[in-house]
Amino acid sequence: MLRVLELFSGIGGMHCALDLVDLNYEIIAAIDINPIANLVYSSNFPNVPIMNRTIEGIPLNQWEKWHADIWLMSPPCQPFTRQGKQEDLNDRRTNGFIYLMKTILPQLQSKPKYILLENVSGFEYSQAHQLLLNTLETYNYYYQQYLLSPIQFGIPNSRLRYYLIAKQEEKSIDIHSSLIQTRISNFERLYKKIRQQFPSKEFFLEENSFYENDQITNKCSHSSEILIDSNQLMLINDFLISNENSNFELDEKQLKRALHVCDIITCHAKRSFCFTKSYGKYFEGTGSLFRTLSNRIRYFTPQEIANLHCFPLNYHFPEQITIRQAYSLLGNSLNVFVVGVLLENLFERSST
Ligand SMILES: C[S@@+](CC[C@H](N)C(=O)[O-])C[C@H]1O[C@@H](n2cnc3c(N)ncnc32)[C@H](O)[C@@H]1O
Repeated sequence: MLRVLELFSGIGGMHCALDLVDLNYEIIAAIDINPIANLVYSSNFPNVPIMNRTIEGIPLNQWEKWHADIWLMSPPCQPFTRQGKQEDLNDRRTNGFIYLMKTILPQLQSKPKYILLENVSGFEYSQAHQLLLNTLETYNYYYQQYLLSPIQFGIPNSRLRYYLIAKQEEKSIDIHSSLIQTRISNFERLYKKIRQQFPSKEFFLEENSFYENDQITNKCSHSSEILIDSNQLMLINDFLISNENSNFELDEKQLKRALHVCDIITCHAKRSFCFTKSYGKYFEGTGSLFRTLSNRIRYFTPQEIANLHCFPLNYHFPEQITIRQAYSLLGNSLNVFVVGVLLENLFERSST
């Protein structure tokens, strides 16, 4: 059984990806400093030991005891985002990652055989990225890097992210890949599973509404390739809980502001903007709004965003979590399907 450490675990997107892939694994610890994220995590995965503390506060002997086979990690992305100050290694939010690269990995006797890391696109230009590659090369890891977005797989949401998968092999000091790939193979098996999880719900469709169709490629906002046939693209419709939802409609004042700056899509859309942690707080650049069949404008609900991130259907937010908190946690989280595909490739599982 694979012994997994989920670092910077948030609401457990990595955990959901392990489930999607059906690996035989045990999460020996999930570590995060955000008690709200930890509450959501434990409500969905009550059997996982969660540590509410900083990564950099955990001493070496604990890492030895864990004897993990794999580290899954999404270090904080704020030090690398274009909107932020880009303080990179000087931003204290990078401390946990630096500790892993400079202190734990070099000294650990029982190094993980596998590592999977997710971060924002732009991370690849950072000093933290250079530190990551240098450390991996020093300790004989093969690695492969990617820039991928769910929209490439026909999932109607843009979320371009940097990913690295690494594997330690004895005597493999000279093989690593500096090329960052924008396509990936071996995704068909999981793609079928996601299609089954979110089947087409044709009954929502109106015959005369087609204007969103076929805009996917020019809205993709980066140069990655679409990896499936254009007739297989999924619709926003497939990820909705219901078309109308009066609880999430914008009021008059919000509408006036939103109409000028927001991306508004219908159930026929084959795309949506990346949902950030500020969705519901600000309009511009935080994610798409939805136009219902009765022409009302509403937010996507947290459950619908979780669907677009391919979380399992039974994933839930406990009652005490506010809508704002749920948006914020989801904005920090990841696309489960894309991470699942990376795991398939890391473990070289067959796609059939
Ligand atoms: C990008 S989010 C990870 C999201 C996660 N993959 C998910 O699916 O929700 C980064 C997480 O790291 C946590 N974090 C930030 N600094 C930390 C530190 N020094 N030690 C432990 N956790 C930290 C934050 O609370 C946040 O939940």
